[in-house]
Amino acid sequence: MCGITGFTGKEPALPFLLQGLSRLEYRGYDSAGITLVNSKKLRTWKTKGRLAELEKLLQKDLTQSCGIGHTRWATHGVPSNMNAHPHMNEACTISVVHNGIVENYAVLKEELIKEGYHFHSETDSEVIVQLLDYYYSKKPVMKDALIKTVKRLEGSYALCITTIFEPNTIYVAKKESPMVLGQSKEGVFCASDAPALLAYTKDIMPLQDGQMAILNKNSLELFDQNGKSIQPKFIHFPYDIQAAQKGGYDSFMMKEIHEQPDVIRETLRGRFRGNKIVLPKIDELKADWNSISNTVFIACGTAYHACIYANSLYQKYTGKPSSVIPASEFRYCDPNVDEHTLCIFVSQSGETADTLAALKLAKAKGCTTIAVVNVLGSSIARQTDAVLYTAAGPEIAVASTKAYTTQLVLLHVLILKLAELYGIKVNGISRLIKDMKRLPELTEETLGYEKEIKKYAKMLKDQRDAYFIGRQLDYPSALEGALKLKEVSYVHADAYYAGELKHGPIALIEKNTVVIALATQPEIAAKTISNIKETVARGARVILITDPDMDAKEFKYVIRIPKMRPELMAIPSAVLTQLFAYYAAKEKGCDIDKPRNLAKSVTVE
Ligand code: F6R
Repeated sequence: MCGITGFTGKEPALPFLLQGLSRLEYRGYDSAGITLVNSKKLRTWKTKGRLAELEKLLQKDLTQSCGIGHTRWATHGVPSNMNAHPHMNEACTISVVHNGIVENYAVLKEELIKEGYHFHSETDSEVIVQLLDYYYSKKPVMKDALIKTVKRLEGSYALCITTIFEPNTIYVAKKESPMVLGQSKEGVFCASDAPALLAYTKDIMPLQDGQMAILNKNSLELFDQNGKSIQPKFIHFPYDIQAAQKGGYDSFMMKEIHEQPDVIRETLRGRFRGNKIVLPKIDELKADWNSISNTVFIACGTAYHACIYANSLYQKYTGKPSSVIPASEFRYCDPNVDEHTLCIFVSQSGETADTLAALKLAKAKGCTTIAVVNVLGSSIARQTDAVLYTAAGPEIAVASTKAYTTQLVLLHVLILKLAELYGIKVNGISRLIKDMKRLPELTEETLGYEKEIKKYAKMLKDQRDAYFIGRQLDYPSALEGALKLKEVSYVHADAYYAGELKHGPIALIEKNTVVIALATQPEIAAKTISNIKETVARGARVILITDPDMDAKEFKYVIRIPKMRPELMAIPSAVLTQLFAYYAAKEKGCDIDKPRNLAKSVTVE
């Protein structure tokens, strides 16, 4: 996720670019840059850090009336001045900002190097400007060069390009990354999202996949991948800027819950070739996989719940010994780890002090270390032997939602890869991969239950406690559901293995107690159902989350997850419990994005 702005018009471009980028900082803030055009040259300023750092580099009296800007959330290459956008060709005649992932950048880069091109950054985006240069050098028509370039790109992109050849023109292209256009008396604009434009116009045109545009001082031309003209269609945006930054939702948590289909798609992008798992960073590790006798998953909080899920999957797919340890315990439990141990660390921020300390100990003991992290170039990412990135983008709400589900997805892919490296065949892998590819649409379908969840969350209005129960792969979902509810609504919640209820906790169940029961695993669901009945018999109100085939006639509040392989059910379950926590918190008037006593990143022990 990154933020893009572009402006060409009668007024200076800089004020629009900067205000636009500040409205888009929620999309990324690890580096920022702009290019301004005058008739003789492109002037580019870029830096690691937030927009404020960029502003320090700029003179206030820059009056050029055409320019592009970028605020970055790193995906390829750490946050650095060199990796910051815009990227330029060697002659500094073309400048490009990009949001998205170019999956085939390595192949394109090799091709361009053979043609004599030099690369300066670690980004996938730099191939785009070099490709444009290459095609423009063959035939100096930028529209044609753009059409040829985007035909070569696999993956996702929103592009904004400016050149010295047409100093008042901006070229724009879009596939699977957002881009909106707008026009006002000041000029013509483009941006990754509407909040950047709303101070200037409320009539906005979202560009569709495969569409491109040429923006001039007071005109806007739209065309498809064959260069054929398209009629622009504007939509009137009713939101104010703040609401639009949250995508029209009232909180970042809700926005981030709804982003999950997209970020799961991004996290899975390019990970499969047939039934083979594509994780080059793991291949590059060149570990002696057969000598790994023990695997340990380590993390804190929500990421720890992702580890519990991963640990169960690992044992199921590989049959090898593994365990899960909270990072805050790892240093103090004298862990039985050595050079034959694989330690897998999971962290959204990549900066959690306990996880970092556990990583240092694991390294000192000679373990092989892999991290699953969201923030590129973070401390944990830098210090492990191999790092895999979830593509959740910046998570602003304190309570983790999209980072969690992308962790589940990426850990799943990693475990399949490890099975492959151990030479173990996972039963039903084709079907599993097929369903994994459908996860974005299945998650979207799950979000369709929002109305029901909203209604059920009202049950908590006068309740102090709630209980989440589940067995096997439903157990981490129960833990995470309870944590989310506690964090944002302050309702006390506990999670139990469903079979453990009768060994104590059932003493707490009385008339109207709310129980969220997860029974998504067909092999064991019947057992969970009988545990649920025990709670109903004591007056509990049970919300049952189950699969489409389960016989659940006797239950009043039932949500059926779309049909998919049971190993994947934890993802829609998480989405449902996140919605439940959100609506419970809303019902109680809590500050959803900033729950009391909590910080987004816990960098102290
Ligand atoms: C809960 C939550 C926390 C974090 C935990 C670890 O919603 O966000 O429990 O999961 O503090 O943080 P990271 O993943 O950044 O290491």
